[in-house]
Amino acid sequence: MRILVTGGAGFIGSHFVRHLLRTYPEYAVVNLDKLTYAGNPANLTDVAADPRYRFVHGDIADARLVHAVMAGCDAVVNVAAESHVDRSIQDAGAFLRTDVLGTGVLLEAARAHRVGRYLQVSTDEVYGSIAQGAFRETDPLRPSSPYAAAKAGGDHLVLAYWTTYDLPVVITRASNTFGPHQYPEKVIPLFVTNALDDRPLPLYGDGRQVRDWLYVLDHVAALDLVLHKGTEGEVYNVGGGHELENLALTRRVLALLGKPEDLIRPVTDRPGHDRRYAVDTGKLHALGWQPAHAFGDALAATVAWYRAHEAWWRPLKSGEFQTYYAQQYGRR
Ligand code: NAD
Ligand code: TYD
Repeated sequence: MRILVTGGAGFIGSHFVRHLLRTYPEYAVVNLDKLTYAGNPANLTDVAADPRYRFVHGDIADARLVHAVMAGCDAVVNVAAESHVDRSIQDAGAFLRTDVLGTGVLLEAARAHRVGRYLQVSTDEVYGSIAQGAFRETDPLRPSSPYAAAKAGGDHLVLAYWTTYDLPVVITRASNTFGPHQYPEKVIPLFVTNALDDRPLPLYGDGRQVRDWLYVLDHVAALDLVLHKGTEGEVYNVGGGHELENLALTRRVLALLGKPEDLIRPVTDRPGHDRRYAVDTGKLHALGWQPAHAFGDALAATVAWYRAHEAWWRPLKSGEFQTYYAQQYGRR
């Protein structure tokens, strides 16, 4: 089995590529990644020399390249995306190109090459905010941010290719994911690395927004299960089952690092900030998935990883990141 994984140099993609190579000795993996600011070959140095692994540097919106790379692949897992809400609020262009058009290019190529499986890695953010209860897969999509809207566009295209062309697609919609190798713009790695440097932690608004935290290895196990066992044309929610307000999360991070709470700096809220995300994961549970990592242990392991891997994250927080950070937080 040859699997094309897009975005395999990013956070979730690199864990997924490693998982596939370790779990299935007979599989070959092609990783197509544009290496944007978020793509980092250092995430996969441990598998780079594996003869079953091939890296291709390129854009999922480049139709010619995608057709060439997809030839001979049995399955496609589209992990590539512009993935950060705040960047989408600053400039939505790259989000539309990669998350919508790029998905469209992959679908066309998958159809032309008659691939046996197409897994679209999506997000619970496509549903929008929910005050109580949890979204089910059949609920309408009401995305709030340009990021979430672009991901919703991708999801709609994927389902249209199932309805129109019988392309054997499946979609996962996962909750906020954390773990090693996550780019330090997302809240957990940003707050951990800022705190390690005794720099303020910019907490948006009243800090009472709720996210459902999912450890990256549990996310990757869900992708594996849906790729192999999911029913064609179906969507599967993936949730960690661990809801937490941002302020409580921030306090736990500081406690794990032994840092004072006066590092917390309340700043102007994100525009359109979703108050709470929650998904019903009954359908995935019925397929045989449960999170295997307790939140407290996984958070402690993640904090310890960032503490031990300064050489990984410190270069990422210089250069382009400084410009982004000044733009994002300078006026708050
Ligand atoms: P990431 O930003 O860490 O990685 C994205 C990867 O995609 C990078 O390696 C980047 O270089 C690559 N990429 C971007 N544009 C590309 C293009 N045009 N062509 C080829 N490669 C391109 O993202 P992540 O956090 O690992 O998220 C991966 C996927 O999971 C995304 O689709 C995201 O929507 C989804 N997701 C993420 C979370 C989360 O909490 N991080 C939760 C649910 C779903
Ligand atoms: P983030 O990691 O950006 O994920 P998402 O926006 O996709 O949920 O943010 C998680 C939560 O943390 C979200 O409610 C916004 C909040 N947040 C802050 O309070 N301050 C920050 O600097 C960032 C990046 C996020």
